This record gives sequence, C-alpha cells and structure tokens, in this order.
Amino acid sequence: MTSAAPFTPQLTADGSFTFYSPQFGETFHSQRGAKAEADEKFVHPCLLPQLAAKKSRLTIIDVCYGLGYNTAAALTAIWQINPHCHVTLYGLENDLQVPRQAIANGLLQGWPDLVQEILQDLGQRETVAREFLTAHLAIGDARQTLLSIVPRDIKVDTIFLDPFSPPKCPQLWTVEFLRHLGDRLASTGRLATYCSAAAVRHGLQLAGLSIATMGDGQPPHPRRRPLGTLASPQPLPLSAFTPWEMEHLQTKAAIPYRDPSGTDPAEVILARRQAEQSKSALEPTSRWKKRWLDREINHTPNSESF
Ligand SMILES: C[S@@+](CC[C@H](N)C(=O)[O-])C[C@H]1O[C@@H](n2cnc3c(N)ncnc32)[C@H](O)[C@@H]1O
Repeated sequence: MTSAAPFTPQLTADGSFTFYSPQFGETFHSQRGAKAEADEKFVHPCLLPQLAAKKSRLTIIDVCYGLGYNTAAALTAIWQINPHCHVTLYGLENDLQVPRQAIANGLLQGWPDLVQEILQDLGQRETVAREFLTAHLAIGDARQTLLSIVPRDIKVDTIFLDPFSPPKCPQLWTVEFLRHLGDRLASTGRLATYCSAAAVRHGLQLAGLSIATMGDGQPPHPRRRPLGTLASPQPLPLSAFTPWEMEHLQTKAAIPYRDPSGTDPAEVILARRQAEQSKSALEPTSRWKKRWLDREINHTPNSESF
C-alpha cells in the first residue's frame, strides 16, 4: 500500500513534527510531542538504556515503523549507553512513503548523524547491515510480514506496538495478532504501547501476557489516562493496577478485537466485536465510568479508594 498524496508535516508541542493520515483520520503521534512520545512511551518503559548497559545484543520489533521515530529513539538510547551493543531490528510498516516522506521533509534532523544515516538507508533499501546493526524494514500488512519475516522462535527483548487507534486500525490490536507478537518475546522481554484501552489490555492478557499500566509519574487519577500499557510473558514489577483500571477490564469495553483468519478488514473486525458486546452480560462501561466519577466527587483526601 502506498499513499496517494504527500503528507504535510505538523508541528507538535515539543518542537518535533508528525504527519496526519487522511486515510485513518489521525495524526501519527501525540500532539504533546512526537519525539518525546518515542522516549516516554516506548524506549524508557522497555528499559532499553538499562538493557544496553548489560547486554551485548538486543533485538527489537517496531510494529508500525511510520516515520521511524521509535526506532531512531531506540538506537540513540542504546548506543549512547553502549556503542558496541549489536541491535537486530525488524520494522513493520504498510506504507513505504511514510518513512521516505519523513526523510524528504528533513524530520529526522533531531537525531544523531549515524541514526539519521541508518534511517535513510532503511527507507531507501529496506535492509541495513553494519557492524552493530542488522535491520529490516518489511513493507506490507504487519499481520503478514510479522509471520513471514520475523522467525517464530526468535526471542526479542522489545516490541513497540504503535498502530493507529483500535477503532481506526483494529487489525493490529486483535488477540490473534497480539498472540503472534507475544510468541516472539523473550521471557524477560517487554511490549510497550501508548494504548490503554480495556479491549487491548484484555487482548494482551488473552494472548498469555502479564500487563502493567504505564504511569506518568503523577499520582493515579481516574480522569487522567495512563501513558499506555506494558506487557510481558513474566509478571511485571509495576503490575499494580488502580481499582478503576481493574474494574474497567470487567466491563463491555474489555471485549477484545478478534481476527481468526488474520486477514479480515477493519469493518469485519469492528462488527464482530460489536456483536459480541451486544450479547455480553458484562457491565456497560458507561455505568463503570459514572460510578468512579461519582466516587471522585465524594472523594476525601484520606480515602484509600484511589
Ligand atoms: C501511529 S503511526 C506509527 C508512528 C511511528 N511509530 C513513528 O514513530 O513514526 C501508524 C503507522 O502504521 C502504519 N500502518 C497502518 N496499517 C498498517 C498495517 N496493517 N500494517 C503495517 N503498518 C500499518 C501506517 O502507515 C503508519 O505509518
């Protein structure tokens, strides 16, 4: 798949640029800062600087490579700590025009020269082999390229999961796709995503992974969305979910996206979930929300409920 029209760079709050996708009706990054998002929601929650300090090889799958910001931030963080750490990277992306237009618009200029050079090579040739890097940019639907390019028995340290939102791109949030990703994680590996939707969190659990909330360092609050979600085959140290997040996973919102054949279009996956929700006896999510907002209004500073 390739984009018909050029993307127009859009400024975000940290001074870095993103693109807007007319096809998906969303920007590629948070308006709060495209470059900051790569570090805050992907590189640091996956502990890449800590891993680079103790390992000589790291393997990463960057699902929805896009402009390449998550890959750029990962390579920068790893080599700042350990310039001799060998990285094996699989970037999965549907539209080669996205990384190419990021390069053509000079959007990678905030990263070190070496990293910019590598992303340019990847955008041009889709494969890069260097002393400390083996990288593949697999162009196509990630549901297929994950299976055809990334070996099933690989044990990756890190997965970045960065598709457009579940209602816009449900194909990459299904239990089946999450399971294929989980199968490729090392037992100590981590998957990070910006998404905190109950359907995705429950989908990760159904895929056999432990999950944890990605906090923003602020005291938890029901009105503020967490930064995202972490998942791993083994229990995560921060797995303590707030009570309202736990209850959210018991509502209809937690009914996951499913795609048994791995080939269904978005509309079919959305309709399948809606049918499952309408038959479900789980609590409506609106009732859960009201209950927690009412408790917030009645909240006293000494209350343990939050
Ligand atoms: C939110 S953006 C990712 C941003 C990216 N991680 C970055 O740092 O620039 C989502 C990306 O998913 C790609 N995409 C959409 N559907 C896809 C699919 N089925 N398989 C692979 N990539 C897909 C889009 O082309 C877009 O580049």
